[in-house]
Amino acid sequence: MTTTISPLIAGNWKMNGTRSSLDELAALASLLTTGEAPRAIVVVCPPATMLAAVARHGATAGIQAGGQDCHAESHGAHTGDISAGMLADAGAQYVIVGHSERRADHGETDELVRAKAEAAIGAGLKPIICVGETESQRDSGAAETVVSAQLAASIPDAAEQHEVIVAYEPIWAIGTGRTPTVQEITAMHASIRAQLVARFADRGPSIRILYGGSLKPQNAREILEVENVNGGLVGGASLLARDFYTIISAV
Ligand code: 13P
Repeated sequence: MTTTISPLIAGNWKMNGTRSSLDELAALASLLTTGEAPRAIVVVCPPATMLAAVARHGATAGIQAGGQDCHAESHGAHTGDISAGMLADAGAQYVIVGHSERRADHGETDELVRAKAEAAIGAGLKPIICVGETESQRDSGAAETVVSAQLAASIPDAAEQHEVIVAYEPIWAIGTGRTPTVQEITAMHASIRAQLVARFADRGPSIRILYGGSLKPQNAREILEVENVNGGLVGGASLLARDFYTIISAV
Protein backbone atom coordinates (compact mmCIF):
# COMPACT_ATOMS: atom_id res chain seq x y z
CA MET A 1 0.00 0.00 0.00
CA THR A 2 1.57 3.26 -1.04
CA THR A 3 -0.84 5.74 0.51
CA THR A 4 0.99 8.02 2.92
CA ILE A 5 -1.03 8.84 5.99
CA SER A 6 0.00 11.68 8.26
CA PRO A 7 0.10 10.26 11.78
CA LEU A 8 -2.10 11.52 14.58
CA ILE A 9 -1.56 11.26 18.33
CA ALA A 10 -4.60 11.91 20.50
CA GLY A 11 -4.64 12.21 24.27
CA ASN A 12 -7.77 11.00 26.02
CA TRP A 13 -7.83 12.61 29.46
CA LYS A 14 -10.91 10.57 30.41
CA MET A 15 -12.47 11.89 33.67
CA ASN A 16 -9.33 13.76 34.66
CA GLY A 17 -8.64 17.46 34.48
CA THR A 18 -9.67 20.73 36.04
CA ARG A 19 -8.57 24.25 35.29
CA SER A 20 -5.21 23.56 36.92
CA SER A 21 -4.54 21.05 34.10
CA LEU A 22 -4.08 24.01 31.79
CA ASP A 23 -0.58 24.27 33.26
CA GLU A 24 0.17 20.84 31.81
CA LEU A 25 -1.32 21.92 28.49
CA ALA A 26 0.87 25.01 28.53
CA ALA A 27 3.90 22.81 29.23
CA LEU A 28 2.98 20.61 26.26
CA ALA A 29 2.49 23.67 24.06
CA SER A 30 5.88 24.95 25.04
CA LEU A 31 7.58 21.61 24.29
CA LEU A 32 5.83 21.44 20.92
CA THR A 33 6.81 24.94 19.91
CA THR A 34 10.40 25.01 21.16
CA GLY A 35 11.58 21.60 19.96
CA GLU A 36 11.60 20.14 16.48
CA ALA A 37 8.17 20.53 14.86
CA PRO A 38 6.06 17.43 15.61
CA ARG A 39 5.54 15.03 12.74
CA ALA A 40 2.11 14.09 14.05
CA ILE A 41 -1.19 15.91 14.29
CA VAL A 42 -1.69 16.45 18.03
CA VAL A 43 -5.16 16.22 19.55
CA VAL A 44 -6.18 16.55 23.21
CA CYS A 45 -9.58 15.25 24.33
CA PRO A 46 -10.26 16.72 27.79
CA PRO A 47 -13.47 16.46 29.81
CA ALA A 48 -16.20 18.59 28.24
CA THR A 49 -15.86 21.21 30.98
CA MET A 50 -12.31 21.89 29.74
CA LEU A 51 -12.94 21.71 26.02
CA ALA A 52 -13.26 25.40 25.22
CA ALA A 53 -10.18 26.25 27.29
CA VAL A 54 -8.09 23.48 25.70
CA ALA A 55 -9.21 24.57 22.22
CA ARG A 56 -8.29 28.17 22.99
CA HIS A 57 -4.98 27.62 24.76
CA GLY A 58 -3.80 24.77 22.54
CA ALA A 59 -4.40 26.50 19.23
CA THR A 60 -1.22 28.57 19.17
CA ALA A 61 0.85 25.38 19.50
CA GLY A 62 -1.20 23.55 16.86
CA ILE A 63 -2.91 21.36 19.46
CA GLN A 64 -6.42 20.47 18.32
CA ALA A 65 -9.25 19.63 20.67
CA GLY A 66 -11.66 16.73 20.77
CA GLY A 67 -14.61 15.59 22.84
CA GLN A 68 -14.78 12.18 24.52
CA ASP A 69 -18.35 11.35 23.54
CA CYS A 70 -21.41 12.96 21.98
CA HIS A 71 -25.13 12.27 21.85
CA ALA A 72 -26.60 10.91 18.64
CA GLU A 73 -29.24 13.67 18.53
CA SER A 74 -28.48 17.29 17.76
CA HIS A 75 -30.47 18.75 20.67
CA GLY A 76 -33.42 18.09 22.92
CA ALA A 77 -34.52 16.61 26.23
CA HIS A 78 -31.41 14.61 27.14
CA THR A 79 -30.31 15.86 30.54
CA GLY A 80 -26.58 15.73 31.04
CA ASP A 81 -25.75 14.87 27.44
CA ILE A 82 -23.77 16.93 24.96
CA SER A 83 -24.36 17.05 21.22
CA ALA A 84 -21.70 16.95 18.53
CA GLY A 85 -22.71 20.46 17.48
CA MET A 86 -22.07 21.71 21.01
CA LEU A 87 -18.60 20.17 20.98
CA ALA A 88 -17.90 21.85 17.66
CA ASP A 89 -19.22 25.13 19.06
CA ALA A 90 -16.78 24.79 21.98
CA GLY A 91 -13.87 24.41 19.55
CA ALA A 92 -13.61 20.65 19.03
CA GLN A 93 -12.54 19.18 15.72
CA TYR A 94 -12.67 15.54 16.79
CA VAL A 95 -14.77 13.37 19.06
CA ILE A 96 -14.09 9.91 20.45
CA VAL A 97 -17.10 7.60 20.05
CA GLY A 98 -17.56 4.04 21.26
CA HIS A 99 -14.69 4.00 23.73
CA SER A 100 -14.77 0.66 25.54
CA GLU A 101 -15.35 2.48 28.84
CA ARG A 102 -18.53 3.99 27.42
CA ARG A 103 -19.55 0.69 25.85
CA ALA A 104 -19.10 -0.93 29.29
CA ASP A 105 -20.28 1.85 31.64
CA HIS A 106 -23.20 3.06 29.53
CA GLY A 107 -24.14 -0.05 27.58
CA GLU A 108 -23.33 1.54 24.23
CA THR A 109 -23.95 -0.75 21.27
CA ASP A 110 -22.32 -0.69 17.84
CA GLU A 111 -25.55 0.76 16.44
CA LEU A 112 -25.49 3.64 18.92
CA VAL A 113 -21.80 4.22 18.23
CA ARG A 114 -22.53 4.42 14.51
CA ALA A 115 -25.34 6.93 15.16
CA LYS A 116 -22.94 9.02 17.25
CA ALA A 117 -20.32 8.88 14.50
CA GLU A 118 -22.96 10.04 12.01
CA ALA A 119 -23.93 12.89 14.33
CA ALA A 120 -20.28 13.87 14.64
CA ILE A 121 -19.85 13.95 10.87
CA GLY A 122 -23.05 15.96 10.57
CA ALA A 123 -21.61 18.55 12.94
CA GLY A 124 -18.35 18.76 11.00
CA LEU A 125 -16.33 16.73 13.51
CA LYS A 126 -14.02 13.82 12.76
CA PRO A 127 -15.14 10.83 14.83
CA ILE A 128 -12.49 8.61 16.41
CA ILE A 129 -14.36 5.29 16.44
CA CYS A 130 -13.04 2.82 19.03
CA VAL A 131 -13.03 -0.96 18.77
CA GLY A 132 -11.26 -3.69 20.71
CA GLU A 133 -11.57 -7.15 22.19
CA THR A 134 -11.64 -8.37 25.79
CA GLU A 135 -8.93 -10.59 27.18
CA SER A 136 -11.09 -13.73 27.02
CA GLN A 137 -12.00 -12.98 23.42
CA ARG A 138 -8.31 -12.75 22.55
CA ASP A 139 -7.48 -15.88 24.51
CA SER A 140 -10.15 -17.80 22.64
CA GLY A 141 -8.74 -16.67 19.29
CA ALA A 142 -11.74 -14.47 18.49
CA ALA A 143 -10.04 -11.04 18.57
CA GLU A 144 -10.12 -10.36 14.82
CA THR A 145 -13.69 -11.63 14.43
CA VAL A 146 -14.91 -9.46 17.31
CA VAL A 147 -13.16 -6.35 16.05
CA SER A 148 -14.31 -6.98 12.52
CA ALA A 149 -17.95 -7.17 13.65
CA GLN A 150 -17.56 -3.98 15.71
CA LEU A 151 -16.05 -2.17 12.73
CA ALA A 152 -18.75 -3.32 10.33
CA ALA A 153 -21.52 -2.08 12.60
CA SER A 154 -19.89 1.01 14.14
CA ILE A 155 -18.51 2.80 11.09
CA PRO A 156 -21.17 4.70 9.13
CA ASP A 157 -21.38 4.50 5.34
CA ALA A 158 -20.65 8.23 5.34
CA ALA A 159 -17.00 7.30 5.95
CA GLU A 160 -16.75 6.96 2.17
CA GLN A 161 -17.20 10.74 1.85
CA HIS A 162 -16.04 12.05 5.23
CA GLU A 163 -12.99 11.65 7.40
CA VAL A 164 -13.27 9.12 10.20
CA ILE A 165 -10.53 7.62 12.34
CA VAL A 166 -10.46 4.11 13.78
CA ALA A 167 -8.84 3.41 17.15
CA TYR A 168 -7.97 -0.19 17.97
CA GLU A 169 -7.86 -0.46 21.75
CA PRO A 170 -7.66 -3.98 23.17
CA ILE A 171 -9.65 -3.66 26.40
CA TRP A 172 -7.20 -5.76 28.40
CA ALA A 173 -4.37 -3.35 27.50
CA ILE A 174 -6.16 -0.20 28.69
CA GLY A 175 -4.64 1.15 31.88
CA THR A 176 -2.93 -2.15 32.66
CA GLY A 177 0.61 -1.56 31.46
CA ARG A 178 0.21 -4.62 29.21
CA THR A 179 0.26 -4.40 25.42
CA PRO A 180 -0.16 -6.88 22.59
CA THR A 181 3.06 -8.03 20.92
CA VAL A 182 4.22 -6.21 17.81
CA GLN A 183 3.13 -9.29 15.83
CA GLU A 184 -0.37 -9.13 17.32
CA ILE A 185 -0.66 -5.40 16.59
CA THR A 186 0.63 -5.94 13.06
CA ALA A 187 -1.92 -8.69 12.41
CA MET A 188 -4.86 -6.76 13.87
CA HIS A 189 -4.08 -3.51 12.07
CA ALA A 190 -3.59 -5.39 8.78
CA SER A 191 -6.96 -7.05 9.28
CA ILE A 192 -8.63 -3.69 10.01
CA ARG A 193 -6.98 -2.14 6.95
CA ALA A 194 -8.14 -4.98 4.73
CA GLN A 195 -11.70 -4.53 5.94
CA LEU A 196 -11.61 -0.75 5.42
CA VAL A 197 -10.22 -1.16 1.91
CA ALA A 198 -12.84 -3.77 1.05
CA ARG A 199 -15.69 -1.57 2.27
CA PHE A 200 -14.51 1.92 1.31
CA ALA A 201 -12.92 1.83 -2.11
CA ASP A 202 -11.82 5.47 -2.15
CA ARG A 203 -11.03 6.29 1.44
CA GLY A 204 -10.29 2.85 2.89
CA PRO A 205 -6.55 2.96 2.14
CA SER A 206 -6.16 6.34 3.87
CA ILE A 207 -8.34 6.03 6.97
CA ARG A 208 -6.12 6.43 10.04
CA ILE A 209 -5.95 3.42 12.33
CA LEU A 210 -4.70 4.41 15.79
CA TYR A 211 -3.40 2.01 18.41
CA GLY A 212 -4.45 2.58 22.04
CA GLY A 213 -3.83 0.73 25.29
CA SER A 214 -0.86 1.39 27.61
CA LEU A 215 0.96 3.40 24.97
CA LYS A 216 3.90 4.86 26.92
CA PRO A 217 7.13 6.73 26.26
CA GLN A 218 8.98 3.39 26.62
CA ASN A 219 7.00 1.45 23.97
CA ALA A 220 5.80 4.24 21.66
CA ARG A 221 8.56 3.98 19.09
CA GLU A 222 8.23 0.23 18.66
CA ILE A 223 4.43 0.34 18.35
CA LEU A 224 4.13 3.48 16.23
CA GLU A 225 6.43 2.10 13.55
CA VAL A 226 4.24 -0.95 12.95
CA GLU A 227 2.71 -0.99 9.48
CA ASN A 228 -0.87 0.37 9.44
CA VAL A 229 -0.43 1.99 12.85
CA ASN A 230 -1.12 5.59 11.90
CA GLY A 231 -0.83 7.08 15.35
CA GLY A 232 -2.02 6.50 18.88
CA LEU A 233 -4.82 7.11 21.34
CA VAL A 234 -3.15 7.72 24.69
CA GLY A 235 -4.82 7.62 28.09
CA GLY A 236 -2.75 7.86 31.26
CA ALA A 237 0.45 9.00 29.56
CA SER A 238 -1.34 11.97 27.98
CA LEU A 239 -1.88 13.57 31.40
CA LEU A 240 1.77 14.50 31.80
CA ALA A 241 3.11 16.90 29.19
CA ARG A 242 6.59 15.38 29.17
CA ASP A 243 5.34 11.80 28.64
CA PHE A 244 2.82 12.81 25.99
CA TYR A 245 5.46 14.86 24.19
CA THR A 246 7.85 11.90 24.22
CA ILE A 247 5.16 9.74 22.58
CA ILE A 248 4.44 12.45 19.99
CA SER A 249 8.17 12.72 19.29
CA ALA A 250 8.40 8.96 18.75
CA VAL A 251 6.51 9.39 15.47
P1 13P B 1 -4.19 4.02 28.67
O1 13P B 1 -3.19 4.68 27.73
O2 13P B 1 -4.23 4.67 30.02
O3 13P B 1 -4.00 2.54 28.71
O4 13P B 1 -5.65 4.28 28.05
C1 13P B 1 -5.86 4.00 26.71
C2 13P B 1 -7.19 4.53 26.33
O5 13P B 1 -8.21 4.04 26.77
C3 13P B 1 -7.23 5.71 25.45
O6 13P B 1 -8.50 5.95 24.98
